[in-house]
Amino acid sequence: MYARQKTLQNFINVAHVLFQNQALPQAARELSCKVFRRLATESDDGKRNLTIYPACTYLDRALASVSAGDTPLACAARSVKELEPFIGWQRRTTGLNGSENYVEDHVNGMIVGPGGMESRYDVQLGFSLMAPNTRYSDHQHVPEEAYVLLTAGDFKQENGDWFDPGIGGGLYNRSNISHAMRTRDLPFFAFWCLLI
Ligand SMILES: [Fe+2]
Repeated sequence: MYARQKTLQNFINVAHVLFQNQALPQAARELSCKVFRRLATESDDGKRNLTIYPACTYLDRALASVSAGDTPLACAARSVKELEPFIGWQRRTTGLNGSENYVEDHVNGMIVGPGGMESRYDVQLGFSLMAPNTRYSDHQHVPEEAYVLLTAGDFKQENGDWFDPGIGGGLYNRSNISHAMRTRDLPFFAFWCLLI
């Protein structure tokens, strides 16, 4: 029978704190409450995506700016680093308006969700990692989503202007809303969670 590793439970606990930050929109906090409630139940089908992609090399640089100290952001950054060998990496290759090399310049790390360290289909908890000067493609999906930023970065929803939620801040994506993010001159790291 599957038993969640302590390192993963520690990560889930600290991620829960990040997603309850008052800097997030209320809708993002409400969504993440539902996600973390489901995560109280362990579930795993054993599938693992262990392929490594070029942008995985940005992990250390992206986390370096927040890893020091005892803040929840720092604890989460160190916890991700501990889980690195078990992360299910994947890339998006569809969508419009991505920068020229965005496929090579980004990677998504699934921690809980299909192919992740705890592979399941009712929730997703993971992160996006991007190279400097990269724009992710416009994309949309049915599940609602909440983000928390560990680094600076800009987001866009539908035809709105780009905005920076701030480090430790985040945003909420309702079902099927078109959204994208872009980086500046440093690597980018943001957690997301989705309720499936
Ligand atoms: Fe998304």
